[in-house]
Amino acid sequence: MNKPFSQACENNKGPILGVLKQYFAQTKSVLEIGSGTGQHAVYMAKNLAHLQWQTSDASNNHAGIKQWIAAFPSSNLKSPIAFIIGDDAWPEGGYDGIFSANTAHIMQKYEVKLMMTMIAEFLPVDGIFCQYGPFTQDGQFTSQSNIDFDLHLKSNGYGGIRDINELQMWGRGLGLIDTLTMPANNQCLVWRKLAET
Ligand SMILES: C[S@@+](CC[C@H](N)C(=O)[O-])C[C@H]1O[C@@H](n2cnc3c(N)ncnc32)[C@H](O)[C@@H]1O
Repeated sequence: MNKPFSQACENNKGPILGVLKQYFAQTKSVLEIGSGTGQHAVYMAKNLAHLQWQTSDASNNHAGIKQWIAAFPSSNLKSPIAFIIGDDAWPEGGYDGIFSANTAHIMQKYEVKLMMTMIAEFLPVDGIFCQYGPFTQDGQFTSQSNIDFDLHLKSNGYGGIRDINELQMWGRGLGLIDTLTMPANNQCLVWRKLAET
């Protein structure tokens, strides 16, 4: 069986790594939510050797992720766990970093809300969440292609592109410390868990 393949992952993995190198510099253990094919995982784990990388997704994606891990093994890269926001409890592991790419516009609104709430609850203080994908800000899209993409997503039953303001509201306890413009009209949102006041 051929490994699942995403051309977008090949295109964006280099720019994303640049962000993770900066913001995961002190991070020990990353949970990736929605690993998809597994392409990001094998690339990030190889290039971020100081941390552990835990893949996760629905179990129907595990075979593909395992194929990528078998083809490009790293001692710091872990086989996928089943973790679906909305179905599963937060996994044990004490992760001080979270990475999730292109999941918020796929999930339903209640799932994205729960993802932000869970991350705000379970990240330790100063833990980092790097969130990649297309977003709007104050309802404004960054491009016509994202407007078209949003319509396409919604007409196919997906939640659609989320607004940064609602993510901030749901992720109370997380501070949005950076918003980076990425290729192909995407952004990387970097969140840090704030100390309790
Ligand atoms: C568009 S793919 C992105 C995959 C990969 N991260 C990438 O950037 O290519 C969306 C992923 O989110 C996962 N996903 C969808 N709903 C989810 C949920 N409620 N909890 C966790 N993962 C979910 C899907 O299984 C899928 O792997």
